[in-house]
Amino acid sequence: MKKYLVPVLTILIVGLSSLAMAAGNGAGILNSPHDFSAAAWNSTGEICVTCHTPHDGGRASNAAGMLWNHDLSAATYTMYDSALSSSLDGAVDAQPTGVAKLCLACHDGTVALEAFGKNTAVTTTSVPTYAEIPRLDDNGNEDLRGTHPISIVYDDVADVNLNIAASTPIGTSGVIADVLDVGGKLQCHSCHDVHDQEAVAGTALLRVSNAASALCLTCHLK
Ligand code: HEC
Ligand code: HEC
Ligand code: HEC
Ligand code: HEC
Repeated sequence: MKKYLVPVLTILIVGLSSLAMAAGNGAGILNSPHDFSAAAWNSTGEICVTCHTPHDGGRASNAAGMLWNHDLSAATYTMYDSALSSSLDGAVDAQPTGVAKLCLACHDGTVALEAFGKNTAVTTTSVPTYAEIPRLDDNGNEDLRGTHPISIVYDDVADVNLNIAASTPIGTSGVIADVLDVGGKLQCHSCHDVHDQEAVAGTALLRVSNAASALCLTCHLK
């Protein structure tokens, strides 16, 4: 009898959570803002394929890692770096790198959403204006100075006002070190969960709600 209990409970829980499902509820990518299986611009009916592919889909972006299957942006950005702030401790890349580059493949609004996989007939459908990074496109200059620093080393040694990455929990995502990129870098996914597994309901896919600035206080000792 017992061995049926777990699957039955699982079905119940999964069933209940899909009933309660709305965008951004942390129950997984299905029906989340990044589930494009029913989007007019995605003829495959699949979810993962707009971003990943198990076999090279012929996009040069494959070299970016993560089996990436979507064209990257060719834009040049102005970074938030030490030229702007004398108090910045972490080293900043000259241009967005790693995971940030993957998010910007859609979120800077310059690349067509359907530029993935084997699609050749690509029209100009881009990310809806409301989902573009706020004020990034400032007269054609992709200006990241108004966006929290990204592609920056989380330097909790040089900056004593940063909580220790190796031991500080961040929501249900483990510790801060778990949401840093190659080289210990802070990127978009350090704050956002693209697959909506660990995101807090009612937020912009945030790993920690920002009520009373809880997200900010996860990393910043202020
Ligand atoms: C909208 C784009 C997008 C979609 C759709 C998407 N992913 Fe991802 N995925 C990413 C990005 C960006 C990363 C790297 C950042 C990260 O790990 O959070 C990633 C990382 C991953 C990783 C490695 C890191 C980890 O979290 O385990 C796996 C595995 C993965 N995705 C699987 C999937 C699967 C399976 C699907 C479909 C069910 C899927 N993804 C759908 C964008 C996407
Ligand atoms: C394949 C294109 C694509 C990629 C890659 C992608 N996104 Fe998105 N994202 C979208 C689109 C399109 C929407 C708007 C969906 C909608 O209309 O609700 C969106 C919505 C969002 C939202 C808003 C959710 C809300 O509820 O307001 C956030 C936050 C977000 N994405 C963050 C990210 C981050 C961070 C990454 C990288 C880790 C990423 N996205 C990668 C296409 C993409
Ligand atoms: C330090 C944490 C942090 C980082 C890093 C970060 N974001 Fe956000 N992001 C937020 C918060 C908090 C919000 C919600 C408040 C707001 O809209 O300003 C948000 C909102 C968004 C939205 C929704 C905007 C809207 O109006 O619905 C998108 C899309 C987004 N971020 C994408 C990105 C992308 C892409 C990156 C990387 C280039 C990124 N974010 C990096 C914290 C972050
Ligand atoms: C995942 C960890 C993380 C989260 C969450 C986070 N930050 Fe940061 N933040 C950093 C790191 C790392 C730096 C770079 C610090 C350095 O190198 O001096 C930084 C830099 C900054 C800076 C620039 C400091 C300077 O010296 O120029 C400001 C301002 C800031 N964050 C505000 C915020 C706010 C406001 C929030 C919440 C919306 C937030 N941060 C959320 C990690 C984080």
